[in-house]
Order: sequence, then C-alpha cells, then structure tokens
Amino acid sequence: MNLLVNIDHVATLRNARGEGYPDPIEAAKVCEEAGAAGIVFHLRGDRRHIRDADVFRLKDHVRGKLDFEMAATDEMLDICIEVQPHLCTLVPEGREELTTEGGLKMESVFDDFNSRVIPRLKDSGIEISLFLDPNPEDIRLAHKLGVDAIELHTGTFANAPDGKKQHELTRLRKGAALINELGMKANAGHGLNLENLPDLLETIPNLNEVSIGHALISKSLFWGMEKTVKAYLEIIEDFYGS
Ligand code: PXP
Repeated sequence: MNLLVNIDHVATLRNARGEGYPDPIEAAKVCEEAGAAGIVFHLRGDRRHIRDADVFRLKDHVRGKLDFEMAATDEMLDICIEVQPHLCTLVPEGREELTTEGGLKMESVFDDFNSRVIPRLKDSGIEISLFLDPNPEDIRLAHKLGVDAIELHTGTFANAPDGKKQHELTRLRKGAALINELGMKANAGHGLNLENLPDLLETIPNLNEVSIGHALISKSLFWGMEKTVKAYLEIIEDFYGS
C-alpha cells in the first residue's frame, strides 16, 4: 500500500507572500527521499496553490508515482495529457469551496465522462481514478466507464463525531470491497491524519494507495517533513507490512 503526499499547501504558503519559496518541488523531493511512493497535486481552475509551471517541474523531478488531481474541464484535460502523469484523479471542483467537498455524483457526470472525458484519458494511456463517496451506485457507474481505480472520499469519516465514525468506516470497508470485486483498485484520501489513519487501515485491508496532504504538511512545520512522512509510513507498515 502506497503513501502519496499531496504537496498543494506548500504552494499555498509560497503564494501567501508571492516569493519563490517554499518550493513544492523541493517538498516533493524530501517526501520521496523519506520513502513516499509518490506525489499528488491538484491544479485548480483558479490556480490558488499549484500553478502550471509547478506541474511541469513536478513531472521532471518526481521519481515515483505522479497523481494529477483535477476537475474534468477541457483545459485540465489538455494539460494532463501533455504532462502524462501516471495517474489522473478526477474530482468535482467548486469555485467557492475551501477544499474538495465530496465525491463525484456519477449519475450527473456519467454521460459527459463517457463521451468526452474518459476516451481522451484512455487514449493517452494515463491511469484513471474517480474520487467518490462510498456509495455502491456511484461505484457501479464508475466501473461501467472502465476506470482503473476509485479514490474513496474519507472526509466524512475524518470529520464524523466519535459516535458516527464506525458507521462511516463500515461504509468505506464495503465500498472498498465492492471496488475490488469489480476489478478496480481502491485508493483513499481526504482528511486523513496520524490519529485517524490507523482506524482506516485496520478496517480496510485492501487499499492500494492513500493520498494525504493538509495534515501531513501542517505537522511538517513542527516535526520536519522527513520525520513526518516516516511517521505515516510507520503506521502503514504496522498494518500492511513494508
Ligand atoms: N484526495 C483528494 C481527491 C483531494 O481532493 C484531497 C484534497 O486536495 C486529498 C486527497 C487530500 O486531502 P487532505 O489535504 O485533507 O489530506
């Protein structure tokens, strides 16, 4: 099971002062040297953190897996296909949201994805993942599109009060089992941190990748990035082995 680090918020900090630092590409290098299997970035339509030049530099410098998270606009498809990351994770994107607020609603995007989005990505050979809530109906529709992976949205679990966490974990476990049963890879991400990751990994024994950003970058301010990445890897090794 792989740890992919989302380095968007290194760019958020850089953009706060309009200087060239901290550099998200330097952060990606440190994460990979500490043992992360790859790097995720989200190029948003409003370019609030990662910018186009970052994307091309990440492509040049990331040695492991590169996951390009994006909304399925024609503009993003053009950039993604030019960059050729290993994986493209499609997410819903709202201009006013602080972060991605939920998974894709498959019923409303199905026809557009089927005719415009998925064929372009498939032709380019880029692996495709869809960010979904753990609803069986959404997962089955995603499977009909022939995608390689589903990233389960773990934000609802992460934000649930203690009494509701178990319910959310059960939904995620069942979702991951269905994804595997249908022959796709199950990834997970959003809101994961050092405290809630053990519960998730204990519950879901068949995850392929976790994508972790905000909590990891925040902890790195106090612990340093190398130590923080290694702390996440230790948790993963406890459940999945090295
Ligand atoms: N996965 C997806 C699809 C996301 O949109 C995000 C947030 O950009 C993450 C994972 C990482 O979430 P977090 O920053 O809360 O760890």
